[in-house]
Amino acid sequence: MREVAPPSLAELERQAAARRDGPAYGEDALISCDRLVRIFTADGVEVQALQGLDLLVGQGELMALVGASGSGKSTLLNILAGLDVPTAGAASVGGYDLLAMDAGARLRYRREVVGFVWQQTARNLLPYLTAAQNVVLPMQLAGRGGFRARRQRAARADELLDMLGVGYCRDRRPGQMSGGEQQRAAIAVALANNPRVILADEPTGELDSATGEQVFASFRTANEELGTTVVVVTHDHAVANAVRRTVAIRDGRTASEVVRRTEVDEHGQESVVAREYATVDRAGRLQLPRDYTEALEIRSRVLLELEPDHIGVWPDRPHSTPGTASPASAAGPAGAAPTATGAAPSDGPTADSPTDSAPGMTGSAAGPGNSAEPGPGSPQPPA
Ligand SMILES: Nc1ncnc2c1ncn2[C@@H]1O[C@H](COP(=O)(O)OP(=O)(O)OP(=O)(O)O)[C@@H](O)[C@H]1O
Ligand SMILES: [Mg+2]
Repeated sequence: MREVAPPSLAELERQAAARRDGPAYGEDALISCDRLVRIFTADGVEVQALQGLDLLVGQGELMALVGASGSGKSTLLNILAGLDVPTAGAASVGGYDLLAMDAGARLRYRREVVGFVWQQTARNLLPYLTAAQNVVLPMQLAGRGGFRARRQRAARADELLDMLGVGYCRDRRPGQMSGGEQQRAAIAVALANNPRVILADEPTGELDSATGEQVFASFRTANEELGTTVVVVTHDHAVANAVRRTVAIRDGRTASEVVRRTEVDEHGQESVVAREYATVDRAGRLQLPRDYTEALEIRSRVLLELEPDHIGVWPDRPHSTPGTASPASAAGPAGAAPTATGAAPSDGPTADSPTDSAPGMTGSAAGPGNSAEPGPGSPQPPA
């Protein structure tokens, strides 16, 4: 490890002032979760569903949350929906503090700020109302009365159903609609009061892939046409790969994310390039992907080395002697690649391959360390 001189008192004071006067964490974000904790106690057994989760989502984003079963995705979504309250930490959506809302604010929040789409199609729509009546209902509950308002509500319901491609279902009850049509009508219901955010928990989970794609296209339409921020929990690789940003949750924390960008090469050819990043939380914690730690038999501790443009992470073994050789020459690209991902992301999975790494993010054989692509052993500047 490089010797670092301790900061002077003046430097510490300057840093403290900068932290105090600088922008607060997540100030510009629409959704901000700061060290969010949710502990459930059932039959005297404690389950830590969220263990200090940090997440920022910007206004207008369309993003996916993935992760193994039990990793805390639904717990997070229920908190963001205002249906559940975290045990500790901070969470806000559109300026609403999710820990401090009184009953009135919570009701307003659920009616006007967020819309929700569940996996079970039957849970989203009332069976004895038509699609159009289902869309009108949340507007009525939000208390906009009067004859004129009634016409406006009906017109808005038609508009939303048309926009999502299910205008022809307006007079049908859910029992007369397919699963995909019901989910698209459910998105119209969620959009009824023009919320800033739509949250969806496995909305395509009960559908075949072609129908799932149509439903996902409706979320994209809502995002593009209305500017609604969309957060979708999904196990569906097609959905996870169709968004710009896929965040993976592991053991109740955000662990890593895949960001996709459209890049144009020197021949003017456009392609989507996906990069996988590890999340560094507010305390500087980083989760190393499990396949990386297993590949190098990393257990309780590692050696770190600060380099001008990256941080080397080395297994705690006698022959790991950072500083005597570059990571590339010490272990070769395959061995060294995982060690430096924290600071110098390698070329992540390409547009064709993120399927393997996005959901779960840890079990991929196509991770940078194992692929033939250059890893941080031959460092490349981050994008
Ligand atoms: N109401 C509850 N009471 C007790 N434990 C709960 C409760 N809700 C969730 N849990 C536990 O919290 C953890 C996270 O659950 P959660 O439902 O958020 O996972 P998930 O990521 O949505 O999983 P899945 O992909 O299977 O839907 C699990 O261990 C679960 O058993
Ligand atoms: Mg769930």
